[in-house]
Amino acid sequence: MLLPLQLFLDKCHKTFSEDHSGALADYIPELANANPSHFGISLATIDGHVYDIGDSSAPFTIQSVSKAFVFATALELIGGERVEDRIGVEPSGEAFNSIRLNSQNRPFNPMVNAGAIACSGLIYEKYGAESFELIRAMLGKFAGRELVIDQKVFESENRTGDRNRAIAWLLRNYKGLPEEVEKALEVYFQQCSLIVTSRDLAVMGATLANGGVNPITNEQVIGQNNVARTLAVMTSSGMYDYAGEWAYRVGMPAKSGVGGGIVAALPGQLGVGVFSPLLDSHGNSVRGLKVCETLSAQFDLHMLNVSADVRTSVFASYDLKNITSRRSRSPDEQKIIEQNHKDVKVLELVGSLAFSTVDYISRQIADFETPPQILILDFRRVPNITLAAARLLVDCLVNLRKHAKTLITLTGLEEPSKIWETMRSVQEEFPQIWRFPSVEVGIEWAEDQIIYRYGGFSISPQLVALDRFRLTAGLGVEARNELSKLVTEKLYSSGEQIIKADEQADALYFLQSGMVSVKLPTGVRLATLSPGKEFGEMALLDNKRSADIWADTKVQCLELTLSSYNYLKDRHPEIGERINQNLAAILA
Ligand code: DON
Repeated sequence: MLLPLQLFLDKCHKTFSEDHSGALADYIPELANANPSHFGISLATIDGHVYDIGDSSAPFTIQSVSKAFVFATALELIGGERVEDRIGVEPSGEAFNSIRLNSQNRPFNPMVNAGAIACSGLIYEKYGAESFELIRAMLGKFAGRELVIDQKVFESENRTGDRNRAIAWLLRNYKGLPEEVEKALEVYFQQCSLIVTSRDLAVMGATLANGGVNPITNEQVIGQNNVARTLAVMTSSGMYDYAGEWAYRVGMPAKSGVGGGIVAALPGQLGVGVFSPLLDSHGNSVRGLKVCETLSAQFDLHMLNVSADVRTSVFASYDLKNITSRRSRSPDEQKIIEQNHKDVKVLELVGSLAFSTVDYISRQIADFETPPQILILDFRRVPNITLAAARLLVDCLVNLRKHAKTLITLTGLEEPSKIWETMRSVQEEFPQIWRFPSVEVGIEWAEDQIIYRYGGFSISPQLVALDRFRLTAGLGVEARNELSKLVTEKLYSSGEQIIKADEQADALYFLQSGMVSVKLPTGVRLATLSPGKEFGEMALLDNKRSADIWADTKVQCLELTLSSYNYLKDRHPEIGERINQNLAAILA
């Protein structure tokens, strides 16, 4: 099947190939040798799929696109405080090579040449001769492959970069660069000369869009906070004196370079890389702008065009009324659960949990008529939680535990679980929390708690008598006596198999004490039975066994063989009739 997004990108490529407006950058002599008809488009999703069309593997120099990634690198390696001390974050509204500094004699932002040179200078100050190798390695991690330098372009720019030299010396005048001005400049020129393709840019953009994790290699390249800071300056200044227009029309953090590349990153969704070396008067790729504009308009990709409904974060909300675990309870236990069904609340959550969804969830919890004794939050459909959301949720659970003594139970978390780690990390005072692999197991545990709290487990500490079973309901004293003469006591130890699937059924059992589980031969548990339940009763219908039965604990039961039952039925048809009616009721 042809993917619709691929078809759309193909169409974009075809349409804009016909646009030959713009000019090659020629202030760096080597760039004037570029092929003006080159045109590649790539789009990488945050699950690691890359769409390509045209010259998506054609090499070109990254130029100013490097500024965004070197800024991210500086934040990561040197720390926000030092970086912010040297470089501002205000848009300048000026051209990329503007020689003006702000009122504190600092560069306006890291996306214009002055800021980028200062950024390379900061890295040089700390790492000296290793600086470029370090930058090359980091940008390679963003791209997911090793990047190499175009020596010719580097030399060409180094030879002719008088304007950048002027900027650098001006910075030095205000102590915004280390003494080795030429060395810092060299790092800057080298980073601009790294060779990339539109595919590389798309993956680099997707790494920013994916919270700093490269979606192809799965490597966390930089921390999420530094991603946000980088995207912020890309939004306000990435497209120089076209930044406002770009934010208005396209609405994706982006960065362009005079090599003809544009990278755009839409947080949580995708990265775009376009290469076409014909530039407009701002130094932005003409076709690159058009592709991004069209893509954004077609698929509503403007980052401020967001619609969300927090209510979808609760997939289901219920208590134990009419919902039971796979554990089959005795009638007494069942009664306790029915009478106290409101004591257990289950919220099945769905989707990524962020601040607004957890706020909604906390209000749902606060709105319960009475605080539940047990709250089960199911995370099976939750892929992740933000730090802020985890803070809010843990606060909510701590309060509930403290004021209402509610037992908090989390189910459906993977093992090991990033969500759980995030929740654990946010607070020292953490409520005691029970965790179970699935909501079914959590509910079973909650039922046990409720039964126990209301004295349920002590109701029948003795063996359950033969007249307490559903199959024997309504039998008179004599009939029961007849029946008890025909049953034999059976004992099983924990882990022993009592019934095997597919064997001919020749007896049924009354479970008097202990627990048994009904399982498929694959091991999947269908139900767990407690005393007071009969099993294997399908034998009365002369069937083959449909499942295995295993003793979970030491088990005592009464066995009624099919031949004994037939004997009883022949001699006392009315008893047979009654048992048959009871069986019909059980099966119904
Ligand atoms: O500083 C320069 O002139 C180049 N090495 C990079 C400039 C650039 O890519 C500006 N972007 N549009």
